Amino acid sequence: MTEPNFGEQGGRLTYGTYLRVADLLEQQVPESDPAAHDELLFITIHQAYELWFKLLLWELTDARNRMLAGESYLPRVRLERCRSVERVLIGQVDVIDTMTPQDFLVFRNKLAPASGFQSSQFREIEFLSGLKDPSYLSRFRGLSDAERTNLQRRLDEPSLWDGFLTVLAKAGFAVGTAEERFDAYRRIAGDRERYGQLWDLAEALVDHDQSWSLWRARHVLMAERQIGTKPGTGGSVGGAYLRSRVELRFYPELWELRGRL
Ligand code: HEM
Repeated sequence: MTEPNFGEQGGRLTYGTYLRVADLLEQQVPESDPAAHDELLFITIHQAYELWFKLLLWELTDARNRMLAGESYLPRVRLERCRSVERVLIGQVDVIDTMTPQDFLVFRNKLAPASGFQSSQFREIEFLSGLKDPSYLSRFRGLSDAERTNLQRRLDEPSLWDGFLTVLAKAGFAVGTAEERFDAYRRIAGDRERYGQLWDLAEALVDHDQSWSLWRARHVLMAERQIGTKPGTGGSVGGAYLRSRVELRFYPELWELRGRL
């Protein structure tokens, strides 16, 4: 009997069948006719973002669950992976910046009212991270039933911040009031030999928060580079709306701590 060739053991899966490559490559369907050259780029980059968002939700949910169970080591490991993914998300803006505004205009009018504003995975990440805004559900009327259910679940369930406070409580810190929490953060910051794992976990949350804000800042520039001061396809005023979101923070107390040390 001959040995199977390398990679053919079992003979059940191929690269293409395991990764569903044929299905994946059928999902880029431009609206423009005749085809606008840059529309494939536009669709591909948004789909790539959605895949990464899916992975982020997977990792962040696990980090949250483990923190709720009192763990601090693996949640930090998960958050570090998220930071690496988020760097990719920020760097990926370079690719869309290669599109010129006049090439975007060839197909932009086909997109309204579709907009990144309607990315429910993006909003799920925000809710899970701790930035819960129930009014989003009423502002976005085109949500599918599945999207609405997922978002409502994220609003109802504990956030990463709730998980972090659970870890602190299990480590013996009082976390009921803001002053008690700041006292806990200061003690952790001041004794890293003893509380290093908690400090690193807090810093991993700050990294996640910072990365999200950096993405928002790059997204404003990306949008303004394409559409200047025009309104967005989703109906907002555009750049000014996006700029107002850059200063949002998931964990304001961990930022305020800096000024209190
Ligand atoms: C040509 C490139 C892009 C332009 C001109 C643009 C423009 C805009 C504008 C004007 C908004 C505000 C809502 C509206 O009125 O539509 C928005 C929101 C948003 N966009 Fe983009 N965008 C671009 C690319 C992307 C990409 C590649 C992503 C990746 C997923 C993305 C994700 C988002 C998200 C998540 C929001 C909601 C932000 C929030 O509400 O805080 N955008 N975009």
